[in-house]
Amino acid sequence: MTKPSNPLCVALDTPDVARARSLARVLKPHVGFMKLGMEFFYAAGVAGYEAVAAEGMPIFLDLKLHDIPNTVKQGLTSLMRFRPAILNVHAQGGLAMMQAARAAVTGETKLIAVTLLTSLGDDDIWATGLDRARGTAAHAQALAQLARQAGLDGVVCSPPDLHGIRAVCGPDFLTVVPGIRPDQTDAHDQKRIASPQAARAAGADILVIGRAITGAADPARAAADILAGLS
Ligand code: C5P
Repeated sequence: MTKPSNPLCVALDTPDVARARSLARVLKPHVGFMKLGMEFFYAAGVAGYEAVAAEGMPIFLDLKLHDIPNTVKQGLTSLMRFRPAILNVHAQGGLAMMQAARAAVTGETKLIAVTLLTSLGDDDIWATGLDRARGTAAHAQALAQLARQAGLDGVVCSPPDLHGIRAVCGPDFLTVVPGIRPDQTDAHDQKRIASPQAARAAGADILVIGRAITGAADPARAAADILAGLS
């Protein structure tokens, strides 16, 4: 993918099609991508997706598939009816699963893998059984390398993991980064966070931002301010 000129991806996390569509309409001039995830898709389905897609923006369909290779491949094949800009799986599904996913996602659609969720702090990660001695960044790096080996286009990763992932996966590997919080805004359930400027400086290609934009009194102004702060 040519790296996007507008790196902002707004997460339209709502089950309500009318709200998603009106947010898409006002945010269109200020962002490069719209992200539709589980909250929206499980409630609004195909018709909801198509209603937002009608606004004409590139869509990241963030459904984070994590299952056996055949199921993931068939699931992604079904989702390819939409031809979204970006689809994703969990890297923890393993190499064979990601290779199967790669076979299903073709053409212009980019396929990326979630490394470690940005809502997990170090203690949460170690509580899942991962090796504390290796450290969080090393785990994220290993998952990113596996995604690259499977032929994926990039990863979803937390701001603190960006540097290590860039070092092993190179400059062309797409890095999509949630856990973005402009200074003074609420972290909510996110633990590994950074400001938009810090994440860009660390090499993020796409910044995923939900509540800091959609929860603002004036979402368009919030997005425009974040974008202006990046230049
Ligand atoms: O509101 P907020 O900016 O925290 O929203 C972040 C969005 O990015 C949510 O839609 C969430 O599902 C998604 N995401 C994430 N961490 C990941 C992958 C996706 O927060 N590792």
